[in-house]
Amino acid sequence: MVDLKGKDILRADQFSRDEVTLIMETARRFEKALKEGRRLDNMQGLILATLFFEPSTRTRLSFETAMLRLGGQVITVAEPKSSSAAKGESLHDTIKTVEGYADVIVLRHPKIGAAEEAAAATERPIINAGDGAGQHPTQSLLDVYTILKEKGTIDGLTIALVGDLKYGRTVHSLAELLTLYDVRLVLVSPEALRMPGEIVAKLKEKGIPVEETEDLEAALRKSDVLYMTRIQKERFDDLAEYERLKGSYVLTRSMLDGAKEGITIMHPLPRVDEIATDVDTYQGAAYFRQAANGVPVRMAILALVTGRA
Ligand code: NCD
Repeated sequence: MVDLKGKDILRADQFSRDEVTLIMETARRFEKALKEGRRLDNMQGLILATLFFEPSTRTRLSFETAMLRLGGQVITVAEPKSSSAAKGESLHDTIKTVEGYADVIVLRHPKIGAAEEAAAATERPIINAGDGAGQHPTQSLLDVYTILKEKGTIDGLTIALVGDLKYGRTVHSLAELLTLYDVRLVLVSPEALRMPGEIVAKLKEKGIPVEETEDLEAALRKSDVLYMTRIQKERFDDLAEYERLKGSYVLTRSMLDGAKEGITIMHPLPRVDEIATDVDTYQGAAYFRQAANGVPVRMAILALVTGRA
């Protein structure tokens, strides 16, 4: 029996396929309950702390919605300048303090490895909501949930990850999570923003066929899912380099004429200019459905790590 009670959610490569299946099934059950308008009280009496030391719209709000939909309550630091971190408090001390207030903690932080550091400071479950250019495991769980919903399966698909593969934590986590399935990956990026070598090596080690290319049109012709990403401006030391790379890939409606039939377009959002707004009405444009899937998937994660599923 797989059981996530008391576990931290830190990285995508921590999961077995059985654990992912459990999260997907639990999310489906919660989504159905929401659709039927049932009131849930799984998390009654529990408090979630959301600590966001980097900007967020979807991740924080969908975690908070998830907790409220399960009958729990939420406390939050959504503005880093309003917390004692701005006075120089260490992450360790912040977490030691918050464990006295909350039963489960969701953390977003600019530093790679921050979630692991937080987890070492407390027995409370820590959920990594993004650690700098590192990992974003709950995003990749909702991405997998979305692919399953849109396509019915993941095994057998060709999935293209496009854009900033160097700094994009969503694609780092998603690529690693997809190694649990029988997929082919097409990694589309400018030379300067390629997927880190350690991750590509890990994918190959797991037997995943990987192609690295700069050619978006070719990827469109052969992919079942196209996962676009934003160039991560905030990670660049040199803004001129960002300016050089920012328009690298822009998906427009007319480009979809050359796409594989039935292609699904995903994006973790926020988008800047990498998907033209005329793509939004395309049947396979799944990115706003994907964002909505964050709620049932995060309900499942919260309920499972607290033993309330
Ligand atoms: C992403 C993130 O924060 O990594 N957003 C999200 O959580 N949906 C993607 C991004 O900021 O580009």
